[in-house]
Amino acid sequence: MSEDSRADLLRRREEAKLGGGEARIKRQHDKGKLTARERLDILLDDDSFVETGMFVRHQAHDFGLADSRPYGDGVVTGYGKIDGRLVYVFSQDFSVFGGSLGLAHAEKIVNVMDLALQNGAPVIGLNDSGGARIQEGVVSLGGYADIFYKNTIASGVVPQISAVMGPCAGGAVYSPAITDFIAMVRGTSYMFVTGPDVVKTVTQEEVTHEELGGADTHASKSGVAHLVFDNDAACLLGIRKLLSYIPQNCEEQAAGIPASAPPTGWADQLDSIIPDSPNKPYDMISVISLLVDDNTFFEIHADYASNIIVGFARLNGASIGIVANQPAVLAGVLDIESSVKAARFVRFCDAFNIPLLVLEDVPGFLPGTEQEWHGVIRNGAKLLFAFSESTVPRITVITRKAYGGAYDVMNSKHIGGDLNFAWPSAEIAVMGPKGAVEIIYRKQLAQSDNPEEIEATFIEEYRDKFANPYIAAERGYIDDVILPSETRQRLISGFEMLRNKVSNNPPKKHGNVPL
Ligand code: HXC
Repeated sequence: MSEDSRADLLRRREEAKLGGGEARIKRQHDKGKLTARERLDILLDDDSFVETGMFVRHQAHDFGLADSRPYGDGVVTGYGKIDGRLVYVFSQDFSVFGGSLGLAHAEKIVNVMDLALQNGAPVIGLNDSGGARIQEGVVSLGGYADIFYKNTIASGVVPQISAVMGPCAGGAVYSPAITDFIAMVRGTSYMFVTGPDVVKTVTQEEVTHEELGGADTHASKSGVAHLVFDNDAACLLGIRKLLSYIPQNCEEQAAGIPASAPPTGWADQLDSIIPDSPNKPYDMISVISLLVDDNTFFEIHADYASNIIVGFARLNGASIGIVANQPAVLAGVLDIESSVKAARFVRFCDAFNIPLLVLEDVPGFLPGTEQEWHGVIRNGAKLLFAFSESTVPRITVITRKAYGGAYDVMNSKHIGGDLNFAWPSAEIAVMGPKGAVEIIYRKQLAQSDNPEEIEATFIEEYRDKFANPYIAAERGYIDDVILPSETRQRLISGFEMLRNKVSNNPPKKHGNVPL
């Protein structure tokens, strides 16, 4: 090799690495954003990144594109390692045509997705793009559709994680939307199908980018974002952490880590955590933290539909998914949003062989026209469907209330729970004592001179009879009544016992989840 050809290659590499040039990189930094390559440096283990398609250029001619053909075409693609595990990545480069997606750009993304599917490893996409490259016209739309299709085919085969770290607008939002998790960055990222200007024209609403589709909006109002971070670096480190709970593909189990005990004093704290009054709230996040390995709970969708909690944790070093009612928010009631949130999480865990722990304290489904008219039937059914079809090991612990249809839905034995435990504080019944008494003793209460006293007597009677775990235990609907402080060991031994569980649903093309 001549010195010239070596120098030529190195020069071309430098050119490629410079993307849209120093000035545009400075503009990126001035906005508080990292460049596409700086992001990959943080996301991936040191020196592990191998780039693919560095010298790819677009072949377009119109609107001046023939004179501007930067290497890489606005997206850095390749593979690397996170904690020593192979991952495929693409990182859109806003300094090149605003990260907009043309045909060559799309082909590079599809290529890494094909490699990921073929080799069974996660795909992480870092999105920062002005959307379809306007100068390339319909081929950009075709490129997006190719990616959407590939996202769909890869769904449930390899984990797909999206970070939205800049604009993501129009149809472009649908690639992240199909992936398993979306992380967003406060202040610099936004997602919407139509931006504030179009919104104003069509609906006369005045709304900022941030209000319409910023990170906090999607983390709390729409539920589009699963995770939200203050800056790029925190987002990328958060994705590394998320990935640690997840296996490489649908054929594998998540890797274990050395176990650690829960925080000091966990057993005593658990035994006293349920208040004496059944109507007094407590924080289910504290219950989770006292049960699992110390400091390992990783919450998903923390600010959305907080009446249910979902997230990953380690139990004796093993990765588990947790779904838990939160009595501290809306008394832990199930509604449309919490059902959909939990259903999607259950389906993710089932697709990727992550055992499920369900902590149950639920007074039922939320009544009202708002819920009924927006389809609490159809949406509540999603959670029922998700648990029923899942074949991973599933353990339920009823900490307090398990009322009505919600008892069935929250991973009851009837829909395939493998081990179902209850704490002595559990109340397993068709409904709460007050509601039940008002219905079954309506006539007596109406005819009485002293309805409050009579009601209190009937409530006491109902509570003694039904509001406990022992009737369900007699039927075998729960396997055992256990002390809170005994729970961790029962969970560890239960999941160990279930480790080789084989459960197959009948062959079918696919079920018809009530979308
Ligand atoms: C080509 C684009 C582009 C695009 C931005 N650029 N978007 N080039 N196609 N879609 C270029 C700009 O010309 C500019 O080039 C550089 O990227 C940076 O853009 P700025 O506007 O200077 O940056 P900023 O002020 O930060 O604004 C970013 C932006 C804005 C909000 C994204 O650029 C914008 O509104 N772009 C258009 C967005 C859009 O309407 N996209 C189509 C959406 S529809 P220079 O050379 O000056 O650096 C869609 C359909 C997908 O995507 C359908 C899938 C089915």
